[in-house]
Amino acid sequence: NLFTTSSEGESTSPIVRRPRKGVIVGAGQVGMACAYSMLIQNIFDEMVIVDVNQHKLEGEVMDLLHGLPFVEPTLVRAGTLADGEDADIVIITAGAKQKPGETRLDLVNRNVEVFKGLIPEVVKCCPKAVLLIVTNPVDIMTYVALKLSGLPSSSVIGSGTVLDTARFRYLLAQKLELDPRSLHAYVIGEHGDSEVPVWSKVNIAGMNLLDVEAEGKDINPLLQDIFAQVKNAAYEIIQRKGATSYAIGLGVAQIVQAILRNQNRVLTVSTLIQNIHEIQNVCLSLPCVVNRQGVTRVLNLSLTQAELQQLQHSSQVLQQTIKKLKL
Ligand code: 2OP
Repeated sequence: NLFTTSSEGESTSPIVRRPRKGVIVGAGQVGMACAYSMLIQNIFDEMVIVDVNQHKLEGEVMDLLHGLPFVEPTLVRAGTLADGEDADIVIITAGAKQKPGETRLDLVNRNVEVFKGLIPEVVKCCPKAVLLIVTNPVDIMTYVALKLSGLPSSSVIGSGTVLDTARFRYLLAQKLELDPRSLHAYVIGEHGDSEVPVWSKVNIAGMNLLDVEAEGKDINPLLQDIFAQVKNAAYEIIQRKGATSYAIGLGVAQIVQAILRNQNRVLTVSTLIQNIHEIQNVCLSLPCVVNRQGVTRVLNLSLTQAELQQLQHSSQVLQQTIKKLKL
């Protein structure tokens, strides 16, 4: 009989690995792109998706579930935070998104109100989880989540400039006819208008881009154009399709893998900065080591004087926003 199982005669119980479990808060375009990217990469054994709009949530989850025969087994369900008790990671994408022409910082008051209700509940229901904040303005929301949660700073991570760094590497690699994975470059600071491209550290096989490419030519206009495309990417996409989703979904999947698989991977996530580059008490992106504990190290990148000044300006922009917060 196919429907009967018997453990009679077994002397030892089988070893059961603890399931890798994630909660995604927000079933909008970003939350669902995260869920889809993680589903097809077999990142979690169990994913719980939570949203205030129950009806939409049900539809989104049904759609994902019908794809299960094509991927590795994963338990996917619509749920509530109460289902997240043993979650390893909670990914927060809930909140308002930019309308065409709005900056990320324009969203701050609306999304701080959302977090005031949400974050204490997350901490109560998912006490073992690392929090990964994706909601914009992501650096401010990471700071707010850190304060509202009372968690150690290693456990509250923002997606930060992981996406901008990817855009930067993609566009540079296109120009140079290279695989973006073979080109190392970082965008640091705010995930937003004051972000900083670290030109002095762009390298291919350890060769500095500026040394290799310049050879006496003025490549500044080319570099400025590439960075303008990075900085304005979200505006360009939002103007055309109303939101950005696929690339951030893939970026979140990489951050989650780095955490769950304890990879010690260097990523430009947003984290609390204390005493690096003379910056204090603000969340922003610098290359960080990401592993099962979350962010365990922030790398002290050597910057040119101009890059340092731009980073400090970016930090001031964020600090001015933080000062106005009513937490
Ligand atoms: C992005 O950069 C809007 O922050 C989002 O795509």
